[in-house]
This record gives sequence, structure tokens and C-alpha cells, in this order.
Amino acid sequence: MAGSGVFAEIIDGDVFNYYADGEWKKSSSGKSVSIINPTTRKVQYKVQACTQEEVNKVMEMAKVAQKAWAKTPLWKRAELLHKAAAILKEHKAPIGECLVKEIAKPAKDSVTEVVRSGDLVSYCAEEGVRLLGQGSFLVSDSFPGNERTKYCLTSKVPLGVVLAIPPFNYPVNLAVSKIGPALIAGNSLVLKPPTQGAVACLHMVHCFHLAGFPKGLINCITGKGSEIGDFLTMHPGVNCISFTGGDTGIAISKKAGMIPLQMELGGKDACIVLEDADLDLVASNIIKGGFSYSGQRCTAVKVVLVMESVADTLVEKVKAKVAKLTVGPPEDNCDITPVVSESSANFIEGLVNDAKQKGATFCQEYKRDGNLIWPLLLDNVRPDMRIAWEEPFGPVLPVIRIGSIEEGIHHCNASNFGLQGCVFTKDINKAMLISDAMETGTVQINSAPARGPDHFPFQGLKDSGIGSQGITNSINMMTKVKSTVINLPTPSYTMG
Ligand code: G3P
Repeated sequence: MAGSGVFAEIIDGDVFNYYADGEWKKSSSGKSVSIINPTTRKVQYKVQACTQEEVNKVMEMAKVAQKAWAKTPLWKRAELLHKAAAILKEHKAPIGECLVKEIAKPAKDSVTEVVRSGDLVSYCAEEGVRLLGQGSFLVSDSFPGNERTKYCLTSKVPLGVVLAIPPFNYPVNLAVSKIGPALIAGNSLVLKPPTQGAVACLHMVHCFHLAGFPKGLINCITGKGSEIGDFLTMHPGVNCISFTGGDTGIAISKKAGMIPLQMELGGKDACIVLEDADLDLVASNIIKGGFSYSGQRCTAVKVVLVMESVADTLVEKVKAKVAKLTVGPPEDNCDITPVVSESSANFIEGLVNDAKQKGATFCQEYKRDGNLIWPLLLDNVRPDMRIAWEEPFGPVLPVIRIGSIEEGIHHCNASNFGLQGCVFTKDINKAMLISDAMETGTVQINSAPARGPDHFPFQGLKDSGIGSQGITNSINMMTKVKSTVINLPTPSYTMG
């Protein structure tokens, strides 16, 4: 159960503490933030509402701790990360339970998220020791006008304090995807969890605490975005921001100082289906890509662009599969579970109503009970409908019938998002040409979009983000290159 056993020290009364200087603390604000269970719509947990003063203290501690951590040998950093990964996996059940209660993720997927996170942390340790164990060596005479009088040695050094802000849909996995690379690279961390998912995050942080990381190196601040959000992101003590979430990221990037930013801000991933595609494969991938975790994934299939000649057959196949999706509470491992909040459900409903008014074909009856929305496929969607462009982040999927491949590519590229996309065809030449033409960070050929495996590069174009993630890219992003140039009095040629 949350907050019991080894996790007993992270809770005080009925409020979960925040983590700073290696200790679990109560905020001086005396206030808490409630976390509403999306299924029951009742208060499930409470977390501390930290103050700006507490943020200042955490930043100072993180700065001091980072200096010592940067001097900790790489193998030692890796050893602690492996330990944290093992502890995390050992406690997959209580952490998974928090995910079920806070974000209504199906029980099985909640546990998978924790295990995947442990694996990610271990991989960071492995990748970090190799990547950071080497630098480069350059000689000067390859540039015109130079003799070989200069040797340039480069290495990767940490940035300092990394501010990590994960989203509600992967509060554990997308937190460790920032924590793992930051720590192995010698940075310290201030983590600001999303409100929904904060308690799972705090449990995950406790696993790092149990692993024995130095005091002040990892800190986790909870509270109201209105009170500490801008204060954190604009704080002069922050040397890097890694953010995953909605368009708040655009506002953050405008306000942040001259520091490296890593942002993943959602998508409207298109699934382009050609006439020769294996339609059974497409239908299975539309179900997996469009409806897993009730469509609440940045990489979900968010619009199907299918060639008119195969559209009827494909829609029938998808309809048959939608009918088999189970709908209900996450505890029962249903495929479709309540969306994260009432405001989210209202937003989705707004998109559905707009599509109805403008004449979309409803393949199922629209049904909602509280935050639970039944899966819905909307056929014959046209570009004048909001759902053609906006991301519902819910179990509602539009189908647009296209007359040509160019029309599909045009729709995909007209979006302000550019995270991933997919194309289904048996013709690899066409697939490659379409992939090249799609303005997205990744194109999947014959499979639904997905971020993993977690060492693959993961990036969005346009409003979908800044920079590239994936373990290797994140480690690189959380370091800067430092050069030392040795100047020789006379040219020196090897064996010369
Ligand atoms: O929604 C966040 C995004 O990173 C999705 O990850 O693993 O579901 O493709 P995944």
C-alpha cells in the first residue's frame, strides 16, 4: 500500500512529504495539494504545497551537492544507479498501485511502467560509463594555415542543476528518463512532479534515497504550479530544464534563461494507410496506437489518413476491434479507463460535439460517465473539424479519407505538431519516400508510433519539442563539451 512498509517515512499524517537534503520534509506553508482519483473523482492523496522559500533552499543544496557529485567516479555513480534500479523494480507493486489510483493507468501497465523505468536507469548507468569515459583528441594541422602545434582534448562535463518536469501520463518513467541521464552525467536534480502522479513520483524518489545517493543530490518539490511553477523554471539556480507535457512547455521555453532545454510537448501523430497495406496489421496497430492508456500518450495515433479505396474495409476492421475493448476501472485492467480529470473529459467532449455538428460519422454511440469515455471512432472527418488538428488525449480517434498520398502528407505536415507518424504499405520504396516527406521527429513503418525502446532517439519537430531524447541523447544533452588545448613550441608530427 502507498506510504507503508519501506515507504512509511515519506508520509506524515495523511500528507506525503517533499524530499530535500536527503530527508522527507513537511512544508512550512502548512498547506497541501489534493490529488483526485480519476475513477472515484474523490481525493485519493495529498502532497505538500511547497513555498518559494523552500524552492530557494533546495536550489542551494542541489548546487552544493552537485559539486561533490561531479567528483564522484563514474563507476561509483553507475553502481548507485544500478542499485536504485533494482530497488525500484523490487517495489513495482506499491508504485504501480499509486499509478492506478492517481492517473487511472490499467494495473498491468502501471507495473510495466515501473519495470521499464528500472531498466531505463540501468541502461543509463551502462551507457554513461562508456559514453562519458571517452572524449576526443584533435590536431591543428588539418585546418589550413596551421602546423601541428596544437593538441585539443575534449571531454564532457556536467551542466549543474537539472530541473526535471515529467507529465501525468508517465510520472515515473518520464521522470527517470531525466533523472538517470542527469545523474550519470554528474548533475544534481530538482524534480517537480505533475500533481496527478506526484505520489508515484515520491515513491520512486524514495527508491533512490534507499540506494544511498548523497544528500541534496536529488530533490523533489511538490506544490501548486501557480505558486512555484514559474518560480522554478525561471530560477537562476537552474542550469538545464527537461520537460515533458503540454503547451506549457512553449511558455517555459520563452521565459527560461540561456540554458539548455529539452522539451517534449505532445503530438498529432498521423497514421497514413496506403492501398497495398496489410489492413489487419493496420487495424491492430490503430487499436494499440490510438486506444492504449485511453489515448493519453503523446505518441498515440491521433489521426488516420486512409486511401479512400480501402477506407470502408479498414473502418469495419477497426470497428470490430473497438467493440472488443473493455471499458471500466484501471484496477480491473480494462483497456479503456477514466481519463485523468474532469476538465480533460470536458475538452474531449467539446471535440466530439464539434465533429458531430459538422457531420462526422460516429462508428459508435458517444458515451461518457464521469471521466470515463467509451472508445469512439469518427469516420469521414474533414479538415474543418477541430478533431482533425487538435489532440484529444482521450479514446477518440478521427479517420480522414484521402484521395492521394500527397493529400495525406499535406495533412500531416500542415499540423503544428511533428512528433511521430506512421505509414503502412508493403512497398518499402514508397514507405521511405513518405517517411522522408513527413515533417515529424520519427516515422514508424508498419507499426504504431512509440517512444521506446528507451535508448532510441526521440524528438519532436515544430510545437512537439526541442532537442532529442532517448538515453544516449539525453546524457549528451545534459553535459557540455570542455576543451583543453596544449600549445607546443614547435610542430610535432607523429613518428616525425
Ligand atoms: O506521452 C509521452 C510519450 O513520451 C509517450 O511514450 O512510450 O507511450 O510511446 P510511449
